[in-house]
Amino acid sequence: MSRFIVSGGERLSGEVEVQGSKNSVLPILAATILTKGENVLYNCSRLSDVITALKILRYLGCNATIQGDTVMVNTDHMCQSDIPNDLMREMRSSIVFLGAILSRTGKAYLGFPGGCELGPRPIDLHLKALKKMGAKIVERHGVLECTTDKGLKGAKITLSFPSVGATENIILAAVKAKGTTTITNAAREPEITDLCDYLNSCGANIYGTGEGVIVIDGVSELYSTQHTIIPDRIVAVTLMSAAAVTHSDICIKGVIQNHLNSVVPVFEEAGCQLDFSKGDLYFKSPKILKPLSIVRTMPYPGFPTDAQAPVMAMSTLCDGTSVFVESIFENRFKHVDELTRLGASISVQDKVAVVQGVKYLYGASIEAHDLRGAAGLIVAALGAEGTTDIGGINFLERGYEDFEVVLSSLAVSYTHLRAHET
Ligand code: UD1
Repeated sequence: MSRFIVSGGERLSGEVEVQGSKNSVLPILAATILTKGENVLYNCSRLSDVITALKILRYLGCNATIQGDTVMVNTDHMCQSDIPNDLMREMRSSIVFLGAILSRTGKAYLGFPGGCELGPRPIDLHLKALKKMGAKIVERHGVLECTTDKGLKGAKITLSFPSVGATENIILAAVKAKGTTTITNAAREPEITDLCDYLNSCGANIYGTGEGVIVIDGVSELYSTQHTIIPDRIVAVTLMSAAAVTHSDICIKGVIQNHLNSVVPVFEEAGCQLDFSKGDLYFKSPKILKPLSIVRTMPYPGFPTDAQAPVMAMSTLCDGTSVFVESIFENRFKHVDELTRLGASISVQDKVAVVQGVKYLYGASIEAHDLRGAAGLIVAALGAEGTTDIGGINFLERGYEDFEVVLSSLAVSYTHLRAHET
């Protein structure tokens, strides 16, 4: 398994470009199934989850290739309606193929998705909505068997929680369904807007994205297009946390300021200075980080759950007590024990973590247990004195492209960072 060796305690400097968003590219790859012809997607990060999505497309009979950060997909010869269990288990986002496959072929056979263990991650909202749109769904031997007799039809769907994945699956099922679909309490994440922008440029009629009520008028055909994936706001937050914890000034290039609205006040509270100019973020850190009164994870436009671990890692070195409330996932504090091994002082009760800032963290051997937790551990390791050996880097590789290269480019002469196989 891959490990990082991080020499911490040194300042970062220079500038770095943010990669394309993982959570955008995955549903867009699933959406290509609904189109005719050759799609060209730019700014796709070479992540293990992206590679898994390409494997799924190829298994389905599609032509899917990656060159640099450009992905080409032609789904004209798609011939399968199932996804093998091993591919389903590799990532949770594989479930987003359900709506697209069902729409394209009238049937879909999928195992239950895998991904990071963040507590129970049910798909009841996805299934309930698809049933309302005319799908018959039975579970047999751990496989979801989904069929439609007369194709999918538009429906009025109200989500009890603005689930990102459920919203995406409904959109994918609805764009070519008969009639109009309305999703009330839809997720408002920028990645959903990116998916809808892609689909609209293929000929779909989707309105109201980002506003909580999405209306989709079904169309009979969608055509391929060229599309550039939005920058990854969570990678941007990770870089901001890394800069803050090392008291560094850096430039993060290619960010969308609006996507960071909920995290900017958190870094400002810590005493950081953030100046946005033409897609670049000039980030300045103070000598002493102030504590964060309360960081509560919420659906967008609230503070993202995916940013909780990196920002908590930063807060371990703040001058005082910070509080985190995790409202989205049940089991999203797995990084806490590992941060404690570096010398952090954190107590957790249910959904609340209280971080008592310490003066120093010290390098140790630690293990990542999920994707964003891994990013948090790297942030902490950068702020720690001495060397930290981080295992479980395979989790990091699901969402961060060549992260050691990114960090090395910010601190070539200061931080020695490498990945090796053990
Ligand atoms: C997506 C993101 C993930 C992010 C999360 C929340 C992708 C590929 N992943 O995951 O990075 O952390 O949004 O912003 O985009 N839920 C149900 N029933 C359902 C669906 C969800 O109860 O049918 C619950 C989940 O258990 C969880 C909450 O809703 O507690 C949020 O889940 P959801 O928004 O669906 O997250 P994902 O789409 O899995």
